[in-house]
Amino acid sequence: MADESPLIRSLRAAVAAAPGDVPLRLHFAELLLAEGRNDEAVAEAAVALQHAPGDADARALMVRAMGMPPASGPAPAPAPAPAPEVPAAPAPEVPAAPAPEPAPEVPAAPAAPVAPASLSFDWDAAEQQVQDLVGPRFLDDPQADGGEGTAGDAAAWDVDAPGAVRLADVGGMEEVKERLEAAFLAPMRNPELRRLYGKSLRGGLLLYGPPGCGKTFIARAVAGELGANFLTVSLSDVLDMWIGASEKNIHDIFETARRQAPCVVFLDELDALGAKRSRTHHSGLRNVVNQLLTELDGIASGAGNEGVFVLAATNVPWDVDIALRRPGRLDRTLLVLPPDAAARESILRYHLRERPIEAVDLGKLVKATEDFSGADLAHVCETAAEAALLDSARTGSVRLITTKDLLGAARQIKPSTEPWFAAARNVAMFANEGGLYDDLLAHLKRKRKL
Ligand SMILES: Nc1ncnc2c1ncn2[C@@H]1O[C@H](COP(=O)(O)OP(=O)(O)O)[C@@H](O)[C@H]1O
Ligand SMILES: [Mg+2]
Repeated sequence: MADESPLIRSLRAAVAAAPGDVPLRLHFAELLLAEGRNDEAVAEAAVALQHAPGDADARALMVRAMGMPPASGPAPAPAPAPAPEVPAAPAPEVPAAPAPEPAPEVPAAPAAPVAPASLSFDWDAAEQQVQDLVGPRFLDDPQADGGEGTAGDAAAWDVDAPGAVRLADVGGMEEVKERLEAAFLAPMRNPELRRLYGKSLRGGLLLYGPPGCGKTFIARAVAGELGANFLTVSLSDVLDMWIGASEKNIHDIFETARRQAPCVVFLDELDALGAKRSRTHHSGLRNVVNQLLTELDGIASGAGNEGVFVLAATNVPWDVDIALRRPGRLDRTLLVLPPDAAARESILRYHLRERPIEAVDLGKLVKATEDFSGADLAHVCETAAEAALLDSARTGSVRLITTKDLLGAARQIKPSTEPWFAAARNVAMFANEGGLYDDLLAHLKRKRKL
């Protein structure tokens, strides 16, 4: 690259210094393209796509660098098998095939201008072709449950639609589900049972565990089971908005719950509120904690609180004000561990649902991802997709995501739950007052991490 222009040279250095700066890289690629260095432009666009999967500018640039007019008709299209019963993919903003469809049996490549032969293919058409491809996505389908199954899936996972997720959508986690059934669902359904076990069901249940392992998701599923009788308060979200009025707001929530009883109040990210009071001297949070204690004690004493249950969640139970955890308050705990095999399978299925995959051996992948959180599993799927995309860009022929891509990605990624367990281990060993962390200790012993 002796005769390289100074501009290109300095841009190359800038890109090397800021590899994640996508606009900069695209600018660089644009210059390369202007100089007719298509191969290098393709490579840069591919890296840009790795940093920003789906970036429209990067895609467009890649198509141009490959010498293909972006809106050219579909290639001789190996007619994708007609998708049976698979719900019409919600085609994310990719406009349906270009309208003026040239007769399919005319394979004549639409006059590619200066296309380097090896790279000339219609990226858009190929992508669409792959998107429609339904083939055998998984090696075997252990969950082969007939008909209905697929219809609800997309909605069931929609994080923004509480009520759509049911406990049945939570993969695995049987122990957690059983506890929730006993602690909330059975007594809500059955007033007799509530009266009989009334006392022992007072006080709330605190879900705790490493981040990204389904606490919020599971609570949503409980909400889905209960419909209207479930009030969610994400404390880290609302506290700022509530400045000056938070005590009243807390009180209002419990008032509403009492009116709707039987009702569950879900306090998500409890640590935002209950952070050790010593640390919150200066802020108004202290009063909020006190108000919450009042409400919880009201429930414990039973005065007008028949049928109000409290569910709370936190990643950092050791940061939750100990006063909130006294008997009669949030005195029962439920450890939500990283997804077990069944849960991992359903999470992986979900994240692969709209990706072009081929004969993926889920069983193997599930085995290779122990201790991965839900978020880690999403990351694995993304990384594998990027690898396949890069490969496609390099070779000029689109290929699907394989088991190998996924296993490779899993090997690269370290489960993010590890640091949590390291911290939790110390707490469980040295601060297990009143057996608060007995189930965590049991888990660590089982895993020989103690
Ligand atoms: N058992 C599970 N079954 C299905 N999906 C799960 C499960 N556990 C976690 N997930 C997925 O992982 C994501 C992160 O979980 P989330 O509930 O936000 O974690 P937390 O509240 O514990 O930090 C969820 O949106 C969900 O998609
Ligand atoms: Mg959460």
